[in-house]
Amino acid sequence: MNDPVHVTVESDDEATRERIFDSEGEVEAGDATFRFSVGGAGDSDGDSDRGEDAGDDDEPEERDGDPLFVAPLSDVPTDSTIRRTAMRPDGRRGVGFILRRGAESGEVFAWRNSCPHRPEVPLDPGRGARVDGGEIVCHEHGARFECGDGLCTWGPCVGEELDPVGVEVRDGDVYLDDERFASVRPR
Ligand code: FES
Repeated sequence: MNDPVHVTVESDDEATRERIFDSEGEVEAGDATFRFSVGGAGDSDGDSDRGEDAGDDDEPEERDGDPLFVAPLSDVPTDSTIRRTAMRPDGRRGVGFILRRGAESGEVFAWRNSCPHRPEVPLDPGRGARVDGGEIVCHEHGARFECGDGLCTWGPCVGEELDPVGVEVRDGDVYLDDERFASVRPR
């Protein structure tokens, strides 16, 4: 995509405006999720439950039939992030989250893909969040976040923390471990 494209999603109590870097993805506002695919057969489920699965790319990732499978541990970087979507039990509303491994501990951490300064801004817009000096750096205004508790150490939201998402590692794979969610989608 050569020109900047922005998507705005409004729900009853929240509006989100997000710059789009990929040809497909999703934007959230409150409980509303808008999924898009430029030049493809994407869909949207807006602020209702009318959405339908978009196709193979939107199918839950499963390993051995486990809908909570997130990714192989080896896919989770120390110097960037990967994105996934945690689906609520109704299977229609999702929350985008990011994963990163601690460079020294190797421990996997996950947080909602949202900057505390402006929650509509994803820390990972689709190509992996920037990591500098061991900290995730927001591409919008440069806020820096520690691995682990996601504490903001510098920037307009200093002292705030990223919203954690529970994950666990089993047999070399990462699984969602958060009672709010029932399955995982690739993005
Ligand atoms: S939106 Fe992240 S620092 Fe401003």
